[in-house]
Amino acid sequence: MSIGIGVIGTGIMGSDHARTLAGSIKGAALAAVSDTDAERASALAAATRAGRVHADGFALVADPDVDAVLIASPDPTHEDLVLACLSAGKPVLCEKPLSPSVEGCLRVVAAETALGRRLVQVGFMRRFDPGYRSVREALLTGEAGAPLLLHCVHRNASAPPSFDSGMLISNSAVHEIDIARWLLEDEIESVTVFRLPARTPSGLLDPQFLVLETRRGRLVDVEVFVNARYGYDVRAELVCEAGTLTLAPQAPVRLRSSGQDSSRVAEDWRAHFAAAYRNQLQAWVDSIGTGVAVGASAWDGYAATATGAACLDALQSGTRATVRMQERPALYDA
Ligand code: NAI
Repeated sequence: MSIGIGVIGTGIMGSDHARTLAGSIKGAALAAVSDTDAERASALAAATRAGRVHADGFALVADPDVDAVLIASPDPTHEDLVLACLSAGKPVLCEKPLSPSVEGCLRVVAAETALGRRLVQVGFMRRFDPGYRSVREALLTGEAGAPLLLHCVHRNASAPPSFDSGMLISNSAVHEIDIARWLLEDEIESVTVFRLPARTPSGLLDPQFLVLETRRGRLVDVEVFVNARYGYDVRAELVCEAGTLTLAPQAPVRLRSSGQDSSRVAEDWRAHFAAAYRNQLQAWVDSIGTGVAVGASAWDGYAATATGAACLDALQSGTRATVRMQERPALYDA
């Protein structure tokens, strides 16, 4: 029996997820889609043979044919939709961020804690990326020794004109914040953000350079550059006491021609992390079957937003900021 999935938000991410769910995820059926743009939702439903179209996301959550919900609507809508899923007792995969506000994340954590079981997964898909998983597995063998430093690069070819300086952190570097916590199994305690003078009339502070300090004394640096022009590029190197672990480049082919040795760079995150998105969906659907939650929890979503908030403070003040977090409820103990 397939698990009926409802997808809320049929824009770039939602339509990608819906197509993957309909085409290549075992044990799942696309039961319904929803978007405030009815035409967009209907077009996707027709292309994916989704069972039903709802004008309203809350109606989709209540649909008896929907066993689990994937939220890919804009960030400010996430909290209320996740809370509706928790009230209905339905598993939910919510695109990052869980909520743009720290308080919103805490309301979700409180609701899930009151329920007493984990139903929320946050879409930090890098945890399912074969490259990052290999780095983590290699770290866990102990061969390279204990981790000391993590260097990260996150570059986009270009960002839309609506992208502001804070979004380099809340939209982009938030992925490095999550992956650093996951790889190091450590919490980020304080943050500093360095920036260059704005180079365009819009005043966008791009690139930025983040330095994150962890509770156990590790350092993480993140270069985030959203108008790097040449393509989408994500890199990471974990420096350990007895060696280093580097994320391998993703291009499977190198071309040697006309005196050049080259490989393609992905245009955007969907191509670069295609396997990660697909693996994330399969793991989520499998976890609904087994009842054992996987991936980033609501607590991880809260930690990412709280750390991002400290980075935004550090960006504005130009000084180091402390990450303020509450005590972790036992529900989220590993
Ligand atoms: P988008 O703007 O392409 O799509 C959002 C869709 O939601 C639109 O079709 C819009 O009409 C619809 N919508 C707006 N309000 C709604 C509501 N109340 N109920 C239902 N639908 C509603 O945005 P995009 O890029 O697809 O982003 C969606 C989410 O995914 C965002 O939260 C974003 O932060 C996240 N995201 C995650 C990425 C990742 O790597 N994990 C990458 C890019 C985005």
